[in-house]
Amino acid sequence: MEKIQVNLKNRQSTIIVGECLNNLEKYIRGRKCFIITDSNVNRLYRDRFPSCPVYVVKPGEKSKDLKVSAGICRWLLENGADRGSFITGIGGGVVCDLAGFVAATFMRGLSFGFVATTLLAQVDAAIGGKNGVNLDGYKNIIGTFSQPEFVICDVDLLISLPEKEYVNGMAEVIKHALIRDKHQFDHLEGYNIPILARDRNEMELIVGHSARIKAAIVGDDELEHGERRKLNLGHTWGHAVEKVTSLPHGEAVSIGLAFSAQLSVNKGLLKEEERDRILDLLSSYDLPVKNDADPSAVFSAMVMDKKKEGGAIHFILMDGIGSVVVEQTDVDELRNFALYGN
Ligand SMILES: NC(=O)c1ccc[n+]([C@@H]2O[C@H](COP(=O)([O-])OP(=O)(O)OC[C@H]3O[C@@H](n4cnc5c(N)ncnc54)[C@H](O)[C@@H]3O)[C@@H](O)[C@H]2O)c1
Ligand SMILES: [Zn+2]
Repeated sequence: MEKIQVNLKNRQSTIIVGECLNNLEKYIRGRKCFIITDSNVNRLYRDRFPSCPVYVVKPGEKSKDLKVSAGICRWLLENGADRGSFITGIGGGVVCDLAGFVAATFMRGLSFGFVATTLLAQVDAAIGGKNGVNLDGYKNIIGTFSQPEFVICDVDLLISLPEKEYVNGMAEVIKHALIRDKHQFDHLEGYNIPILARDRNEMELIVGHSARIKAAIVGDDELEHGERRKLNLGHTWGHAVEKVTSLPHGEAVSIGLAFSAQLSVNKGLLKEEERDRILDLLSSYDLPVKNDADPSAVFSAMVMDKKKEGGAIHFILMDGIGSVVVEQTDVDELRNFALYGN
């Protein structure tokens, strides 16, 4: 078991990798706790929840919604929640975002924690204090920065995760290695077979490593003024691919990582051999590195995206494996590359 502290100005948030869902009780002891989960996690693991009231939402992105949040707040009121109550989200990124949002806003904020049950939530969504819901097709447009007291990453829960969801999370694991950790990249290269087979020790190792990278970046820049932008590696192009093609998030991010690697080569920042290693690594985890979406449609979607700032887009480029730079990239230059140079 490994404890990772996210060092923040006003409070501490602790990520516990390798802890077991059965021990959740000890983290909430003495407080009136309310659990929020989705129906898949409820079906699989309800018998291991501590005895607290449980609110079950439908699985999927549609539950990140103001009406669903209002339903939970009503249920909290009906069940006598007060400012001393504690909320625990048990689930993937959807449940963590929703539970975090409700906890941050109900009665101006209750303490909360997560048991992250998907790989993506364990290494990414549950860490960092961003939470929010969607509105009219705008993702995460209503939300807060508010830190969970704890994030339990029970890697044994990942065994029941559908293959697609596991691989989806691997895209973020690879992204974190590319941002800050060449050793993790080398490890992912050498151990793809046991990692894909979900060997317990390997899962604990990669989740611990990846969570530590995200925690360090969040600790450096909690409110996303600079350093935290690096976490958008692969996402500027990837989000646009996701919009145009409806590919799963991780697959779209993988295509975005490949796009960023090639752009970095064109700009003389990354060596061709390094780009090839990156593409090979993504492929070895069954992640795509290209797709047949119309690049001009993807480009338009990217320009529309909220990350557009003035005439330039903050693009995250790689200047080696395990190191990135944030560059204001000219829109015309990006269009040329997206349409002709890629
Ligand atoms: N707040 C952040 O910083 C942040 C960062 C990245 C992503 N996100 C958000 O995370 C969400 C995606 O998260 P996700 O990929 O975890 O999706 P998800 O929460 O929808 O979970 C994926 C699927 O797996 C099921 N599931 C969860 N745990 C399981 C388990 N142990 N066994 C079997 N099935 C299980 C869920 O019911 C769901 O059907 C998006 O809404 C995204 O915006 C937030
Ligand atoms: Zn992502």
